[in-house]
Amino acid sequence: MINDSIDRYGSVTRFFHWLVAVLVIQQFFKFGDIINDGKHWLGETFGPYHTSVGAIIMILAILRLLWSMKQKNQRPIIEGANSKLVKTVHGIMYFCLIAMPPLGALYIHGHGYPVKIFGQVLIEKPAEKIQWAQNVGELHSILAILLAILVIGHIAVALYHHFIRKDDTLRRMA
Ligand code: HEM
Ligand code: HEM
Repeated sequence: MINDSIDRYGSVTRFFHWLVAVLVIQQFFKFGDIINDGKHWLGETFGPYHTSVGAIIMILAILRLLWSMKQKNQRPIIEGANSKLVKTVHGIMYFCLIAMPPLGALYIHGHGYPVKIFGQVLIEKPAEKIQWAQNVGELHSILAILLAILVIGHIAVALYHHFIRKDDTLRRMA
């Protein structure tokens, strides 16, 4: 089924969810840059694709958000005392996925480098470093930490539902 239904997320929602999940977890390898000043295989392997993959994630997140709005009245209902918290966390995750790419671009631009996506220059190298862009761009790292914490919590809750509560929460997204 392409569309969501009350018992299960449809194929489009599941495709968006798992593709974005894999790409986001791959983006987290950028934390590997912190190890040994970037001279670590994690940072060296995934680092070069970080900007381009980040741009794809942003586009997928926007499309996914539009799709989930269309499915609003026919998707599984998130129930329970924590439903507001769960929806807020999902909302913050979407916000991170959409806000982090422009912030990353500001960080790079502010430090005096061109912003390239798939080898194409998207924003030219500035004549000199731009302090405000550097400062705003720092938010990228803060959101990266926030998103990592939320994703860890999100995975833990999904596993808790599946193995301890033994309900349908993970199955309807699988
Ligand atoms: C939603 C997509 C993205 C995610 C989840 C993500 C995640 C991360 C993570 C986990 C880090 C390591 C944290 C740190 O070094 O402080 C990082 C660093 C970085 N990201 Fe992203 N990123 C995304 C998109 C982008 C995009 C599109 C760009 C550029 C246009 C970008 C540019 C950077 C830069 C320059 C750093 C290094 C910052 C520093 O050294 O302080 N990121 N990102
Ligand atoms: C790594 C990045 C991930 C992000 C950004 C993410 C984000 C989201 C978001 C925003 C939703 C709300 C539904 C929607 O709009 O599609 C959701 C639902 C869900 N996610 Fe994730 N997710 C990630 C990884 C995972 C992983 C690894 C698992 C499993 C272990 C998982 C399990 C679920 C489940 C079971 C739901 C349905 C919750 C419900 O209907 O109550 N997610 N996820």
